[in-house]
Amino acid sequence: MTYGGYLQLESLLDLQEGPPSYSHTPSNDETHFIIVHQAFELWFKLILRELKEARNLLTQSKLEEATIPRIVHHLERVSEIFRLLADQWKVMETLSPQDFLAFRDRLGTSSGFESWQMRELEVLLGLENEQRMGGMDPLAHMKKLAGEGKVPAKALAELEETAALPSLQEALMTWLGRTPIHGSSPQDDGDQSVVKSYIDGHLTAMRAHGEEVIQHMVKIGHGDEATVRPRIESGINGAESFLIEEGSINRARAGLLFIESYRELPLLSWPRRMIDSFVDLEQAMLLFRSHHARMVERMIGRRMGTGGSSGVDYLDATTKYRIFVDLWAVRTLLVKRDALPSIEQAGYYGFVTDE
Ligand code: HEM
Repeated sequence: MTYGGYLQLESLLDLQEGPPSYSHTPSNDETHFIIVHQAFELWFKLILRELKEARNLLTQSKLEEATIPRIVHHLERVSEIFRLLADQWKVMETLSPQDFLAFRDRLGTSSGFESWQMRELEVLLGLENEQRMGGMDPLAHMKKLAGEGKVPAKALAELEETAALPSLQEALMTWLGRTPIHGSSPQDDGDQSVVKSYIDGHLTAMRAHGEEVIQHMVKIGHGDEATVRPRIESGINGAESFLIEEGSINRARAGLLFIESYRELPLLSWPRRMIDSFVDLEQAMLLFRSHHARMVERMIGRRMGTGGSSGVDYLDATTKYRIFVDLWAVRTLLVKRDALPSIEQAGYYGFVTDE
């Protein structure tokens, strides 16, 4: 075995000469442009592998405790890659706008918009079409591109396979739905009433805390009761409809709130680390999107993209996407530790008191 043979370096280093249709050798700037794109796509390839592994582990109907650290490990690696990619735009910024314009026309309509790996990783994570700009349907878009010969059939087939399986966000919510709440699991008798009383207890704690906030705000002169109270109450009403949707309990959200509220309990420590890893991953991905938009603004201003989008406005809109919506939303419902109702069945969670 040799270094070059193991890494197939000869083939890899032959891939920066531009497409076969090119009759010229790419300039230094264009070679840089090609290499940066290729490096991103290589990382995307690894991200897809890591996330698929995490999805396969998370979709098991019974998740052994030892499996959660493995999922966390995959997610943490992906977050680090996104952080690296967010910084990698800086290399692209060494290209001046004028130097980019020198070869931009040759790109024609080709654009990161056609990156099938990017689309697959969004679908794998669980980005809903309704969140996308103009409700874009990535499957229909990729099918169209495949029909025009711009995307290989194999890539389309992989995207379709990923779309047919549960996304990470769906798998996560299914798993959260099984969270033992006050020691009660979904299959246990009386689970619904345990969960309902847990929710009621939490909302009561929120209301009591809300009263304290109102008094404090009025006392320090940050508004009068008539203006502060409706804001606090609308937060509590929002919490109630988050947990109980149209009369039925959302057990996954209740489980999520439970884990986040009692996160110091030993049995909940890995579950909450996994939740944190998903939040961290989404945050890293959003920064990656945002840095791309800033680099693009610096490079092409407010011009249209080669893919035909509005350009920077489109990219900025993608920084509003949220995949793990409930993981972000639950933060609004949290109550300080000493105002929380005490945990029932503490022993179940491996929590031992002195008494
Ligand atoms: C000079 C450098 C770059 C410019 C000016 C640029 C510009 C743009 C623009 C304007 C878009 C919006 C779609 C369109 O209308 O084309 C876009 C999308 C995209 N670009 Fe770039 N880009 C650059 C470099 C890169 C690099 C190095 C990558 C790495 C693979 C990349 C990946 C993407 C992806 C994945 C999208 C789709 C984003 C989405 O739909 O969420 N871009 N780019």
